[in-house]
Amino acid sequence: MSAYTNPLDDPAADPFEVAAQAASDIARLTGVDHHDIALTLGSGWGKAAELIGETTATIPATEVTGFSKPALAGHIGSLRSILTPGGKRVLVIGARTHYYEGHGVRRVVHSVRTAAATGATTMVLTNGAGGIKETWTPGTPVLISDHINLTADSPLEGATFIDLTDLYSSRLRDLARQVDPTLDEGVYCQFRGPHYETPAEVQMAKTIGGHIVGMSTALEAIAARQAGMEVLGFSLITNLAAGIQKTPLSHAEVIEAGQAAEPVISDLLARVIGQL
Ligand code: HPA
Repeated sequence: MSAYTNPLDDPAADPFEVAAQAASDIARLTGVDHHDIALTLGSGWGKAAELIGETTATIPATEVTGFSKPALAGHIGSLRSILTPGGKRVLVIGARTHYYEGHGVRRVVHSVRTAAATGATTMVLTNGAGGIKETWTPGTPVLISDHINLTADSPLEGATFIDLTDLYSSRLRDLARQVDPTLDEGVYCQFRGPHYETPAEVQMAKTIGGHIVGMSTALEAIAARQAGMEVLGFSLITNLAAGIQKTPLSHAEVIEAGQAAEPVISDLLARVIGQL
């Protein structure tokens, strides 16, 4: 048993106060009191951090109030402060808490709320995901144009009505396409996981307008919008979704596709961040 307790597990805690505390931990530990851009790295996107600029501090996420231990090997549990050649401060979040971990949605979106509390006004969310479009071979990066939240949950508490039109900023997507005009885009469906979808669920996602299936991002994007941030989302297609690809899905395959694509997509992401 670990002695580590998470203040977000106290229902009486104010998640925004916990995020403010986390932001002050980050300022103290990195020596940087303001970040402009935040970037969450999903499977396959890890190398981007090296290409964005100069890392001036790396801190274990567990030193920061409210962050959880990473649930998965391959999901790095650290936060970095990076200075871009253009002089922007990027907070790189390599510690994602997934909804399927069962710790509640407050913990899932804590990194996003913390990023906003550090001053970041742009939130870049990346993930590894399954593709529904057959032309997307494993290793293809795609822009997220919108989402369908199939978790039946929300990071918003009480009667908090937030507009989600243009949640995945068309301005930022245009900017990304200036870096790579071949980038395709699609609607991301967040399933609860951690099981992969059944072929029938993938067909449902397709029928209701989805192109990408995954287990993260949508809840985080909602919290980012609530915090007033502009959101850019990228999926790395690590596999075709269940039933679209005829062979069974495996986590090993997802990790392998991520590793194979990493140099190319990391370079793309770093160039897009350079434009923000
Ligand atoms: N479904 C859900 N999540 C995923 C997938 C998938 O096919 N691939 C990588 N993450």
